[in-house]
Amino acid sequence: MQRRAINAAITGWGKCLPPAVLTNADLTTILDTTDEWITTRTGIRERRISHVPLGDMAHVAAARALACAGLEGKDIDLIVFGTCSHDDQVPNMASGVQLRIGAHAAAAMDVNTACTSFLYGLSSAAGMIRSGVVRNALVIGAELISPFMDWRDRNVAVLFGDGAAAVVLQASDRDEGVLAEKLGCYADAREMLRVHGMGGRYANQGTLYGVTRWQFEGQEIFKRAVHGMSAACESVLTTLGVTAEGVDLVVPHQANLRIIEAVAKRMRVPMERVFVNVQRYGNMSAATVPVALCEAVEEGRVAPGALLLLPGFGGGLSYCAHAVRWGERVTPLGTSSLELPPTDRTALELIRDVSARKTRAASSTVM
Ligand code: UT7
Repeated sequence: MQRRAINAAITGWGKCLPPAVLTNADLTTILDTTDEWITTRTGIRERRISHVPLGDMAHVAAARALACAGLEGKDIDLIVFGTCSHDDQVPNMASGVQLRIGAHAAAAMDVNTACTSFLYGLSSAAGMIRSGVVRNALVIGAELISPFMDWRDRNVAVLFGDGAAAVVLQASDRDEGVLAEKLGCYADAREMLRVHGMGGRYANQGTLYGVTRWQFEGQEIFKRAVHGMSAACESVLTTLGVTAEGVDLVVPHQANLRIIEAVAKRMRVPMERVFVNVQRYGNMSAATVPVALCEAVEEGRVAPGALLLLPGFGGGLSYCAHAVRWGERVTPLGTSSLELPPTDRTALELIRDVSARKTRAASSTVM
């Protein structure tokens, strides 16, 4: 008996951005930097700083994505949580979301490939849908980077922000969803981006978890990012048998406007067909692509049946690209009333709080 091909279609989308805004002007009060440097070198104007744990942002994003798809937690068979800034390593982040949305029958797993974690997670979930293991999956990209940031280091502190988003993937027999993907990793360049103080090995060196120093070769990462994303896009288009002309919208990883422009130029895609929101949020690592995807749909940039290209890169140095055929529906079936709790703390106050806590903890640690 011949089985019909199953595709994995995106039927729900939802985001959660914490309300506290950290502007470039704010950063000039704590770092030797300028709005002009940050804007011209990166395109970033502001980013968000979370007052809640990662799991809270992810829960809100997940509830919104589920409502958008017209589903409830009990309908979900698989939760994939892409992140590198876990509240906890054990138990994993996905099981926390499972509990909170009531997805009692779901499998739950975390994926960490740094900034590409959402897209690697999308492949994991799409693969399980195509093979018939699951039918409905929730894929989350969420990051709480601010507690792991070294707020004294201007090379990295101006680049990142916090945020979360999720999509619902459902089995479909139509020609839609994740149609082609290419994933890879330049492991020879893995030392170009290393966050010291964010793993078990540092316990042996007397470093407190979360008290970080960032090893970060910006210019080399930049070159690999452009190369990796362009090559992955070419590979995906070849698999599909279409040229860049056939792509309706590119929704890339949002780390730096100049990286996005360089990839678009290599691909010969005009910037009018590229979605950019890095100016609002900076680099939210795993959350950038799903937040950008949500906003592209909300802003009417995604037409029914549109062909989207989602290139990404991150620590590892991982890279990838996904071609997604959007379905007929570009509006949510429902909405969720779930919100983050309010805060009266400013972004600068939140940063000062976390920095002070880390300093106190580090000075009271017996080496
Ligand atoms: O998702 C993966 C995460 N990784 C990335 O996104 C990194 C990709 N790389 C980049 O986005 C860019 O390389 C950066 C934005 C990180 C840096 O831009 P650049 O044009 O490559 O600058 P640069 O590293 O060559 O630095 C130029 C100068 C240096 O001063 P000198 O040595 O020329 O005197 C830096 O010290 O800019 C200085 N600088 C700053 N100045 C003001 C570095 N950071 C800052 C800052 N404010 N925040």
